[in-house]
Amino acid sequence: MKILAVRNLKKYFPIRSGVFLQVTGWVRALQAVDLDIEQGVTVGIVGESGCGKSTLGRTIVKIYEPTAGSITYHDPDGHVHDITRGLPRKVRATFRRDVQMVFQNPYDSLDPRMTIRDIIREPIDTHRLFADSKVADEYVGGLLTKVGLYPEYARRYPHEFSGGQRQRIAIARAISVKPRLLICDEPTSALDVSVQSQIINLLKDLQRETNMSLIFISHNLDVVYHMSDRIIVMYLGHVLESAPSHALFDRPAHPYTQALMAAVPSWNPRYRKLGEVKLEGEPPSPINPPPGCPFHPRCPHRLDVCDRVMPEAVEVAPAHLCACHLVADDTARKAKA
Ligand SMILES: Nc1ncnc2c1ncn2[C@@H]1O[C@H](COP(=O)(O)OP(=O)(O)OP(=O)(O)O)[C@@H](O)[C@H]1O
Ligand SMILES: [Mg+2]
Repeated sequence: MKILAVRNLKKYFPIRSGVFLQVTGWVRALQAVDLDIEQGVTVGIVGESGCGKSTLGRTIVKIYEPTAGSITYHDPDGHVHDITRGLPRKVRATFRRDVQMVFQNPYDSLDPRMTIRDIIREPIDTHRLFADSKVADEYVGGLLTKVGLYPEYARRYPHEFSGGQRQRIAIARAISVKPRLLICDEPTSALDVSVQSQIINLLKDLQRETNMSLIFISHNLDVVYHMSDRIIVMYLGHVLESAPSHALFDRPAHPYTQALMAAVPSWNPRYRKLGEVKLEGEPPSPINPPPGCPFHPRCPHRLDVCDRVMPEAVEVAPAHLCACHLVADDTARKAKA
């Protein structure tokens, strides 16, 4: 069952300068993103810093207004709502409850002046989950146990906890309202390696128990591979490749994906020979993105057309999409043969 569909999503941030703060340009954080989320499935999002991963997550949870494109939400009764339009109050409340987000840095995502109880109670009270406050407090205790902490911690403040514990608290808060989709934006990148795997296992356990969907954002390919059923590779606000995890790792089609994989030291021997793509330098600026395929300035396989036309995504295998002229040519040739 589908939960969310994102189509041709764009998000541009204005750049303002001068005394009157005129808009003098745009940061094109998302240029054309398509994404589908099915119930119970984990979609990993990878790509270098600045490619728009967080902007995508934040636009889905309505922290940002999209510039163009649509985000449709499929509610449990099978009704479909475009959340980028004005929504009836009730639908908006359901959506806000059903889609929750856990942020990268647990050191600033929890209000230091609030007790853990109040932090976790906030969404519970907003969505009026319980009429009786005592019952709600018991529920908070249960949530703390579920994320591997103690109910007594409810009386304490965030500064009394380690990064890993704080991230558990943030997860308890996010799952308190039983979301259908949890967006995790680099939830472990601020944590020690040993703590990272505990948080990943916790998320996997919770998912197994509740059948919620996850969007898992990370630039750590290892982590994304272990977490995800499907992976989306982003570059400069575009989706360059999208495939079931095993297919992406066995047969990465896009030169950029191949380069990303060859850049992981332990995977290097396996992927190096694929395309001999080395990722050098930085991605271009999203203020002035290159014309055509955004990866062409760094791509050793570029064709004449690459600096003029953005390639359409083609299906190189079932459910495996890749937006690359070279790959599209190969696929067409194979289909003809
Ligand atoms: N609120 C904002 N205002 C202006 N520009 C922004 C804003 N948020 C993000 N950007 C810009 O949009 C682009 C995409 O940023 P985003 O944070 O989505 O990337 P990311 O893939 O999450 O990167 P990272 O891996 O470093 O977290 C960047 O160039 C960033 O500077
Ligand atoms: Mg980010």
